[in-house]
Amino acid sequence: MKFYITTPIYYVNDIPHIGHSYTTVVADILARWKRLNNYDVFFLTGTDEHGTKIAQAAKEKGVAPYELCNQMSSKFKEAWQLLNISYTNFIRTTDNKHFESVEKIVQILFDKGLIFKKKYEGFYCVGCERFYVSKDLDENGCCFLHKTKPVLQSEENYFFRVSQFEGDLLERITNLNHKEHIQILPEERRNEIIGKLKLGLEDISISRTAIDWGIPLPFDKSQTVYVWIDALINYLTGIGFPKGEFKKYLPVDVHLMAKDILWFHSVIWPAILMGTDLDLPKKIYSHGFFTLNGNKMSKSLGNVISPEELVNKYGVDSARYLTVTLIPFGPDGDISWESLTLKYNTDLANNLGNLLSRTLKMAEKNFNNTIPQTIPDLSLVKQVGNIFKENFAYNMDNIALHKAAENLQSAITLVNQQIERDAPWKLAKTDKEKLAVSVYSYLQAIDLIAIHLLCFMPEIAQKIWFLAGASGDIQEIAKKYFNSFNIPDEGFSIVNAKLGNSEILFPRIS
Ligand code: MSP
Repeated sequence: MKFYITTPIYYVNDIPHIGHSYTTVVADILARWKRLNNYDVFFLTGTDEHGTKIAQAAKEKGVAPYELCNQMSSKFKEAWQLLNISYTNFIRTTDNKHFESVEKIVQILFDKGLIFKKKYEGFYCVGCERFYVSKDLDENGCCFLHKTKPVLQSEENYFFRVSQFEGDLLERITNLNHKEHIQILPEERRNEIIGKLKLGLEDISISRTAIDWGIPLPFDKSQTVYVWIDALINYLTGIGFPKGEFKKYLPVDVHLMAKDILWFHSVIWPAILMGTDLDLPKKIYSHGFFTLNGNKMSKSLGNVISPEELVNKYGVDSARYLTVTLIPFGPDGDISWESLTLKYNTDLANNLGNLLSRTLKMAEKNFNNTIPQTIPDLSLVKQVGNIFKENFAYNMDNIALHKAAENLQSAITLVNQQIERDAPWKLAKTDKEKLAVSVYSYLQAIDLIAIHLLCFMPEIAQKIWFLAGASGDIQEIAKKYFNSFNIPDEGFSIVNAKLGNSEILFPRIS
């Protein structure tokens, strides 16, 4: 039971923004989810530090490339620390270990006759770090993504015989019963990849003569490895290739990324693995682009939202929750500070926050901050359990995190509605015994909600668990519970357990 999940490794010419943190937080939530399901999880992220783009950025800043890489790679690490990202390894492509592994892979391909030399002419877009032919460009001869004119380059390079794998790849992508089937998601993007593959695969250049900020080819030190080949191999280096037990984690279970780099992951990368007789990824899932107020997010336009800004405004766990629930995983989506704040106030301040503070206040006022001495009534927690039982696990496993969050909100709403119906503020005056049963049942439901919140908001879930007087380590209890989705007969907390003081976990933000 292993689970190997990756994010792209991010270019260090840019500062971390919500686009990067989106993929990374999604990966983190899945990693946490699989850990709770008793998988041995390997979660890899890191930074992509070679190539023209980085060399140029360093030149513009007047620093040595490696210095820029150090500074910027640290910024990504800091951002992930801030967001409580539980990666297993953070890889940098300038690590010595990575040099060794790239050399090894390229040498294997060369020895197998899969690499040859050829003169090539093409339009190189530095933003994309790739060659285009005229038909790939817009009517002004510009790259569709960067809107800049790629430079015509002509050089003698080494090529990888990707074309050799065309049929095999198509078979593995289209045949659902293939034992090494590669699942590409979402469906529309998979169809695009299949359509493109059917048009024929061209061999790709895998080296550069004029770029010295890269890894020299082991069999011709006058050229460096093309940055995309260098970058893709991180998924092997990151788990210890060529040494150690790297095979334990292969195949990759899920590669996550945005749509712009799906081709590299679903075609070039599997071809490298096929050429080196290594296992192919099981699932490659791409998501859309975030735009901010309708505009592409970019440092040069000055319209990026950084993880730091998000955390300063909403707190760590709320920043995580908002990042992954604002748009569905797959299509593009537009966000704004207004939509973030609206979601924060609706889901967290008004729904979850309100449930917690009103329940704790009742316990504080009437039962001296302890779980009242009464017989537990599990009917409410069971109703909440039914919401989750139906499709929470399905949503998590299928990376429909916004839907899993909807399950959470439905559960919270259900308890809030029950409170409205019970009107415990009236019971406090008329029927203390009934009030005790009610308050205890709300607390049980809150415990169950905390368990489902754990992957999204690890600190807050832990805190809620403690405030609601639940017993035992939430991680261990969640692991047990997610085995069967059955609620223990005695619920999650016991009478007389001490509760935390009512506090405002999610102050309203205007
Ligand atoms: N270095 C390559 C990836 C190599 S992986 C072997 C690269 N880096 S990148 O810095 O440009 O980051 C790309 C990834 O960042 C995207 O695939 C996506 O995961 C994330 N995003 C960056 N901007 C984004 C948006 N505006 N919206 C959503 N995600 C975006 O490509």
